[in-house]
Amino acid sequence: MSAFQNLFRKKSVKPQDSGLRKILGAFDLTLLGIGAIIGTGIFVLTGIAAATQAGPAVVLSFVIAGLACAFAALSYAELAASVGGCGSAYGYSYAAFGEIVAWIIGWDLILEYGVAVAAVANGWSGYLNNALSAIGFALPEILRAGPFPDEGKLPGLVNLPAVLIILVLMGLLVAGVRESARLNAAMVFVKLLTICVFVGVALFNVDPGNWTPFMPYGWFDRVTDSGGHEITVGVLAAASTVFFAYVGFDAVSTAVEESRNPGRDVPIGILASLGFCTLVYIVVSGLLTGLVPYPDLEVSSPVAHALELVGIDWASGLVATGVITGLTTVMLVLYYGLTRIIFAMSRDGLLPSLFGTVNEKTHTPVRTTILCGLVMAAFAGFVPLRALAELVNIGTLAAFVIVCAGVIALRITHPDMPRPFRAPFGLLFPVLGVLSCGALIAFLPFQTHLRFVLWLAAGLVLYFLYAAKRSHLATARP
Ligand code: ALA
Repeated sequence: MSAFQNLFRKKSVKPQDSGLRKILGAFDLTLLGIGAIIGTGIFVLTGIAAATQAGPAVVLSFVIAGLACAFAALSYAELAASVGGCGSAYGYSYAAFGEIVAWIIGWDLILEYGVAVAAVANGWSGYLNNALSAIGFALPEILRAGPFPDEGKLPGLVNLPAVLIILVLMGLLVAGVRESARLNAAMVFVKLLTICVFVGVALFNVDPGNWTPFMPYGWFDRVTDSGGHEITVGVLAAASTVFFAYVGFDAVSTAVEESRNPGRDVPIGILASLGFCTLVYIVVSGLLTGLVPYPDLEVSSPVAHALELVGIDWASGLVATGVITGLTTVMLVLYYGLTRIIFAMSRDGLLPSLFGTVNEKTHTPVRTTILCGLVMAAFAGFVPLRALAELVNIGTLAAFVIVCAGVIALRITHPDMPRPFRAPFGLLFPVLGVLSCGALIAFLPFQTHLRFVLWLAAGLVLYFLYAAKRSHLATARP
């Protein structure tokens, strides 16, 4: 078989035994999903998207992004239940399309999860700095930001809180998944309580006049800002921005190998967490834009800021504290997902074998966890938030498109494969998933497209220099 033919060879769709402990049930997985989903997107980006892209119609942006995710989630659920133990979208695309597509999606997911953790750590650090300043313990400027901060922010030496939180999470994940899952459950509870406080207070302080004009920026437009950069505005552009709020439900599928009954529990975990979060986002974004005029929301902590503007300071402080906790769970789950994807890629020989071993004592991939932690801590410490965050959405949307296409391909090539969960109405939802996620990619700025293409090009170079020669498929070739 030629090297070229080998690129498209596929792996058996049977799950493999990994040595990881099977301890997570449907409820744990749903909490894992909620832990990963509700974070920077709703607590930070809603305000920015409302103020600069959509106005009060940001609530429609959440509905649109949520629908695209729902289509993708049905495909994820089907593949997680039927293909199973191979590590998220990476494993599914291996089964559906073969090695090179699997490599591309794995490389893409490393970007999505790794960059998202570093980006959320940056946001976490911002909230922590605000809280520390409020109680008189402000960190010196040089420890709050890296040397090349986002426009309008002061440069520093290193973003120390962002580095430290990633190192703490690294320790937790090295210690073992059961302990992390328990902590995650506790922090998800605090996060939900925070949202309840906001909703309870906001309900009685909404001014319906703030919802007019409802759609000040229209559906979609490309305009040039004062610095000469092209920016996108409108409800659809805002949908591409707030899509970040949904990033993470796919992390549930990376826990397939540690779930007790993946065929049942993983689809429940994916769909339940996504459905719940969509509802929360519609309620919170609707109330937030009703609380204050939308231009006032262009700040780094819009939810707490809005409560402050209407004079409810106690709720503002409480919400800010809850957000710090909420962002921690997001990082924890995405970090966990990242290590499991690298683990699966290494097991297939696409990455060096040292990333594919599980520590005998902790039953976790210790070396992968430590290496990822150090690299992400460096990025979080020295690269500014916007540069990190821009890439996450496009990487995730691309992964969703491939997962939906994978369902379509497997329905055609393996029509009789057992499917404990099957997306209803034939190919309707996977096709809608490809179209809607593809459209959201198109609504992102050109610069983001360019950076993503560069990342993929680097991945392909690595593939041909290393992975294609050493993968288990290549070395098993007669
Ligand atoms: N969905 C996650 C967040 O909003 C990544 O922070």
